Amino acid sequence: MAKASDYNLGPHTFPRGWFVVAESSELDAGPLAVRFFGQDFALYRGDSGRLVMLDAYCAHMGTHLTASRSAIIVVDGKQIEGDSIRCPYHGWRYGPDGHLNDIPYHDPCPKTVALKSYAVREVMGCVMMWHDPEGAPALFEPPLLQEWDDPAWVHWRLDHLDALQVHGQELMDNMADVQHLGPTHGAPCEYFENEFIDHICIQRQGGFQKAYDAFLATTTWYTGPGLLLSKQEFGRVLTYELIANTPVDDGVTQVWHGALTRAQNVPHTEADIAAAGQVQAGALRAFSADFEVWRNKRPAIRIMQLHKDGPFRTVRQWYAQFYDERAKIGQYHARLNGRHHIPGFERPGDQHMAMEGGLFA
Ligand code: FES
Ligand SMILES: [Fe+2]
Repeated sequence: MAKASDYNLGPHTFPRGWFVVAESSELDAGPLAVRFFGQDFALYRGDSGRLVMLDAYCAHMGTHLTASRSAIIVVDGKQIEGDSIRCPYHGWRYGPDGHLNDIPYHDPCPKTVALKSYAVREVMGCVMMWHDPEGAPALFEPPLLQEWDDPAWVHWRLDHLDALQVHGQELMDNMADVQHLGPTHGAPCEYFENEFIDHICIQRQGGFQKAYDAFLATTTWYTGPGLLLSKQEFGRVLTYELIANTPVDDGVTQVWHGALTRAQNVPHTEADIAAAGQVQAGALRAFSADFEVWRNKRPAIRIMQLHKDGPFRTVRQWYAQFYDERAKIGQYHARLNGRHHIPGFERPGDQHMAMEGGLFA
């Protein structure tokens, strides 16, 4: 298992950005214990509906706030009070800002005691956290597809895939990987390009699929290092795909997958929902081919990059900005922003660009 330092990503071990930490519906069953970025967190929904993410361990004696299922305060459904949470061991209560705000048997409560609280958002059925190794506020917005709020589209229910013993760098390499589309996916392309816009990395590609007698055109983009969206036109069918990756520990990566499709009817019938599920399952089958490669490969610390490979090194440079000091990010943008082409794969036509609309706005 290779780590961030093996890929020379430093100085930070974990990247900054928005990352999926749960599917929203998971919180309906109560508070969650999650582990990402080598740390344990308590995640819960307050009575107002607000999402709260805190460092997991109580200041008193180190109890995990949300890992207990059998403490009576949890069983009785009394752990959440307003938007605060009580520790299951002795009942100390923390507010959504992480500050201790009540001790049941001690007055006054020492209000300077606090756990760290993290910025979380609910976006497209996902709970996303802003992770920043320098503890600074978000530098950019998480992505949002306009179609998510359009009732004609069937919302995804995420596939929760295994934690890969693979660094996120190897997943990111896919963005440049023009030559795997044929052997791995049976979908060789006629054109291919990458474009970088600050914290966004775009891949445009397309080609005629003989097996299906249809043209496939995709625009795939990362918003930061952890969130991939892909707009895919296959013949007359339009689909969006989400692939989210979040570091669990250095070199271990949790992955989620979803697909968004338009239904025949509003409100959706059971058949519409089943059809959407089939589209997502089909997209997952295609993605599983990548996933299986990653699960079984040795780390590509160095890539033997040939002339007609994609621009792996450039994508790796773009990815490294999220591991570098915030003060240096502008240098990455100045150096990398713009389009990058591969000899033999001409630029996408205007038709492809028109399909993008305001995707990156
Ligand atoms: S360990 Fe949390 S209240 Fe005692
Ligand atoms: Fe792939």
